[in-house]
Formats: sequence, C-alpha cells, structure tokens
Amino acid sequence: MDLVKEIKRLKKEKNAVILAHYYQVPEIQDIADYVGDSLGLSQKAAETDADVIVFAGVHFMAETAKILNPSKTVVLPDLNAGCSLADSCPPDSFEKFTKQHPDHIVITYVNCSAEIKALSDIVCTSSNALKIVESVPKDTPIIFAPDKNLGKYVIKETGRDMLLWDGSCIVHEAFSMDKLIELHKKYPDYKIIAHPESEEHILDTATYVGSTSGMINYVKEHQEQKFIVATEAGILHKMQQEMPNTELVPAPAVEDNTCACSECHFMKMNTMQKLYDCLLNESPQIEVPEPIRKKALLPIERMLELSK
Ligand code: 13P
Ligand code: SF4
Repeated sequence: MDLVKEIKRLKKEKNAVILAHYYQVPEIQDIADYVGDSLGLSQKAAETDADVIVFAGVHFMAETAKILNPSKTVVLPDLNAGCSLADSCPPDSFEKFTKQHPDHIVITYVNCSAEIKALSDIVCTSSNALKIVESVPKDTPIIFAPDKNLGKYVIKETGRDMLLWDGSCIVHEAFSMDKLIELHKKYPDYKIIAHPESEEHILDTATYVGSTSGMINYVKEHQEQKFIVATEAGILHKMQQEMPNTELVPAPAVEDNTCACSECHFMKMNTMQKLYDCLLNESPQIEVPEPIRKKALLPIERMLELSK
C-alpha cells in the first residue's frame, strides 16, 4: 500500500489536518500540513477548521489541541508517546507544592499534563517563556514548573527569582560535555546553538539559545555559518531542507543513549503506518474530562493572547 497516497486520500475524505512537531521522523514531517514548535502547533490547533486533528507529536501536545477543540476529534498515532518532563510532575505532589505557596503565580511550561495546566495561572512554551515571566508584575512571586533547566535559564535572563519544580527532559539532559568539547575541537569554526531544556553548562557554550522554531530561524538568518545543534536530532531534517547549503552537526549524547545524537524515543514512537491507522480508525482519541479541560483552557488562552 502507498501510505503517502492513502494518508492524503483519507485526510481529504475526513477533512483532517496533520500537525507535526520538528522531532517527528522525516516522512511524517513531509506529509504534515504544518510542522512547528509547541507554540506554533497550539496556535494552529486553536485556529483550525478541520474536523479531525491528527497530532504527530507527544501526548501533552495532542491534549492541548483537545483542550482548545473539545468538539473535534483529536488522534495521536501512538498513545504511549509520552514525555519524561510531563511525567516528572505528578498532579498530587504539584498541588501540595502550590498550596504551600498560595501567594505565588503558577507558570507552567506546556510540557505537562492537563491536570497540571488546570492548576496553573498561565502556560508558556520555550519560545515565549521570557515574555510570559516578564508579563508578571515584579513584586509577584512565581512558581515555575516542571522544567528546572528552562526555569534556571529564565531566571538568568530575566533576573526574576522563581521557585522551580525539579523536572527535566531526558533527551536534553543526555548531551555529553566531554563529547561536545571533542566535537568542537574537530569543528572549531562551528557555532553551538541549544534548546533551553538543556543543562546550564551546555547553554553556556551556546551562541544562541531558543525554541526549536527559534533555532531554525537563527540558522536561516546566519546561513553562511556552520552549526552544532543541541536539541533532539529530528530538527536537522527541517533545518537541512530549508538551508541545504548550511553545514550542521547534531550535538553528541552520552554513551548509553539510543543513538550517537540525542533522540526522543517518545516522539519516535509515531510511524507512518500508525499515522495512517489512527486517521483511518479515528483512534486512539484524546479525551480530557470536562472539569479539567475548562480549568486548563484558561492558562492556555492567556498564553495565546500574550503571544499574538
Ligand atoms: P519546542 O518545540 O517548544 O521548542 O519544545 C521542544 C520540546 O521538547 C517539545 O517536547
Ligand atoms: Fe518530552 Fe524531552 Fe521528548 Fe520533548 S524531547 S517530548 S521534553 S522527553
């Protein structure tokens, strides 16, 4: 069966849209209607008039699309496509933590469950975290969750003193400093660009720090330069497609990682066959209980409003 042809046929028949993250396998990025970062994907999900949203990404992203579109069918090719960062913030413990600091505004990174969003005042992504934090009056204390690495980066950039949740992304914490130094010796004229989910010592080596879209735009603006790219390696597909003449090398990961670079095994659970199956069967679907959806919607809408 020609999966590309069949997916395109079903997409038309069902008035479906395929939204894909930059970390998806190349074939999925190539068939998607839109490929983007977490912010871009939630903006697209908020404005789509499709009846079915096929979310080629991880669970929290598809959940955000469902929160914004309760009457639409939202499917995820593999329901097990989770996120270590989202898993590092269980709702019960997080609720206890917020109750211990009732005077704090709760800002949560979009990489968290609907239950956590429902406990938040405002959501952010890596592309608008600085702006969202700076929108809070200076004398208001802030809880920032779940990513401690992004949190530390925001504290450094804004000078705001925030209470951080102790969560992290296994993919962005897998970069090896020793190997990065070795690689930089081999490619001394390459500039390092990094995602803010990476650890501080990696970010300190970077010429540019930003979200996946931010990194792509930075490379676009400096195409004559060469780059070592410190985020999930899937981003190199789109970067190389858009900037075919720019030399790019993925940042190296520690020995026990699944590949020499850093790959998110959750993102890579989605395949073209699973994408076809979920579109055909309209399953597995994402469901969010209505009371949680209503509470989670507000902080997402606040973020979208501030990101216009
Ligand atoms: P962005 O796409 O917002 O840069 O986030 C990266 C990520 O880890 C998504 O899970
Ligand atoms: Fe989660 Fe990290 Fe994978 Fe992004 S790269 S989905 S933060 S585990």
